[in-house]
Amino acid sequence: MKNYQIAVLKGDGIGPEIVEQAQKVLDKAGEKFGFSVDYKEALLGGAAIDATGVPLPEETVTICKNADATLLGAVGGPKWDTQPGNNRPEKGLLGIRAALGLFANLRPAVIFEPLREASPLKPEIIGKGIDVLVVRELTGGIYFGERGRCEEKGQPAAFDTEKYSVPEIERIARVAFEMAQKRRHKLCSVDKANVLESSRLWRETVIRVSKDYPDVELNHMYVDNCAMQLVRNPGQFDVIVTSNMFGDILSDEASMISGSIGMLASASLNDGQKGLYEPIHGSAPDIAGQGIANPLATILSVGMMLKYSLEQPQAAQAIDDAVAKALTMARTPDIWVEGMKKVSCSEMGDLVCSLL
Ligand code: NAD
Ligand code: IPM
Ligand code: MN
Repeated sequence: MKNYQIAVLKGDGIGPEIVEQAQKVLDKAGEKFGFSVDYKEALLGGAAIDATGVPLPEETVTICKNADATLLGAVGGPKWDTQPGNNRPEKGLLGIRAALGLFANLRPAVIFEPLREASPLKPEIIGKGIDVLVVRELTGGIYFGERGRCEEKGQPAAFDTEKYSVPEIERIARVAFEMAQKRRHKLCSVDKANVLESSRLWRETVIRVSKDYPDVELNHMYVDNCAMQLVRNPGQFDVIVTSNMFGDILSDEASMISGSIGMLASASLNDGQKGLYEPIHGSAPDIAGQGIANPLATILSVGMMLKYSLEQPQAAQAIDDAVAKALTMARTPDIWVEGMKKVSCSEMGDLVCSLL
């Protein structure tokens, strides 16, 4: 029987609650589809700061590098907000992305049919449905550029730098074109080329790469317009490719179209197949420990893990199907509507398992 080694970084806030549900579902998928999973837990974020003083202990990097894939909950919270910038929980997350070379972040925003009424968008805007894949560059741009404090006209000032090299843009563009080839053959590259020089290089490079993908229809959009178009007419998008910061913002916006940020999964990939899988949302300190978090984004992230790293496409599909079915039967509070059964985080995990 095939056996997989999965690194587990539960993190902070709701992280442990949601990861536990995703592990249950992965174990159940293993029983059903004939594979087993061994987990190795490691520390990241605030939990790591409390235990070791730093948000990304070296041991965590080693454990993730040796695993077939990594499952992550979320990091951060008010407890660590006073940490210096380079020792915050979030710095640990950026560090693990960099250490594993996870430059391609796939964030699919789909609307599950039963959740139509949970979307804040009107039915006529949702139309036949929404299926957008945001391909976010994850190891470059302003997140990793030079930053610091300085002085200007005798007053304290600060700066962060957005910088992209041609190879960085090329490789993320290729991932996006290849994804579009497997989908509806449409790619929208999002930038701010009317203002930013890094965006002008981004656009030139994407256009050059597009010559290798004549079957994909490419268009370009400024990020402000894209933010507006996502709520005006989300059906126009197939794949969106964009920089680290624009992708962060647009994917949170896209998540709400699907009803709740608690629904949006993600895969962070490098050149190989050892990805990191995490929901796009954060540690939700406001609801942590109450057992009411929506675990579906993390469960769907396990689905992405099965698809992209573990080569178990049938198990991946079965998880998506079980989630769709579960949504017709019960909801966590964030997507609950009148007349529907309201369930806790772990009850939702159990329900998905029972439907697998
Ligand atoms: P957040 O995503 O944690 O929460 C935003 C809102 O969405 C909150 O009201 C929260 O209760 C709700 N929410 C989020 N996930 C939910 C779920 N699964 N089910 C139900 N409701 C959910 O964003 P924030 O409040 O801006 O950030 C909180 C902390 O998380 C910060 O420290 C931030 O840096 C960190 N963060 C971490 C990650 C990550 O680890 N990948 C991502 C985003 C934010
Ligand atoms: C995300 C988060 C992170 C990001 C933070 C916590 C560093 O918002 O994964 O979307 O901005 O990448
Ligand atoms: Mn984010």
